[in-house]
Amino acid sequence: MINKFNRITWLSIGLLVLSACSGGDDASGANSGVVKPVELAPGQKIYQNYCFSCHAPGLSGAPRLGDVEAWAPRIAKGPELLLKATIEGIPPAMPARGICMSCTDEELAATVDYMIRNSQ
Ligand code: HEC
Repeated sequence: MINKFNRITWLSIGLLVLSACSGGDDASGANSGVVKPVELAPGQKIYQNYCFSCHAPGLSGAPRLGDVEAWAPRIAKGPELLLKATIEGIPPAMPARGICMSCTDEELAATVDYMIRNSQ
């Protein structure tokens, strides 16, 4: 009787461990208990990885994110021109593609859009 009880106990512990592990393989992470990273707005991730270092402190005259006054005359040029300036760079201080050489034009457009939305 005791032996049977033990077998069942160990079996259920084994099942528990198994199910806990398989939950971790779930790509959606829905049942794994893993906290998903907060979804970033399009462009926000690239901004934080590449543009932030200059555009947060306003390095070398870079218009700071959220600085409505600094952005107003730039935003007035329209998003196409801002994207063109981002892709080509503005010598000497604004590097071409904002230093993100692996970014596509679409990703840069989303990043410029993110900066505009947060600076007006
Ligand atoms: C090394 C510093 C630096 C980095 C990194 C950088 N910028 Fe800039 N950026 C500048 C400076 C400085 C200016 C202002 C240039 C000027 O007007 O002479 C500027 C200006 C701009 C402007 C305004 C252009 C215009 O026509 O007025 C946009 C848009 C912009 N940056 C987007 C970005 C994006 C997007 C990224 C990241 C992918 C980025 N920048 C990364 C320094 C930087």
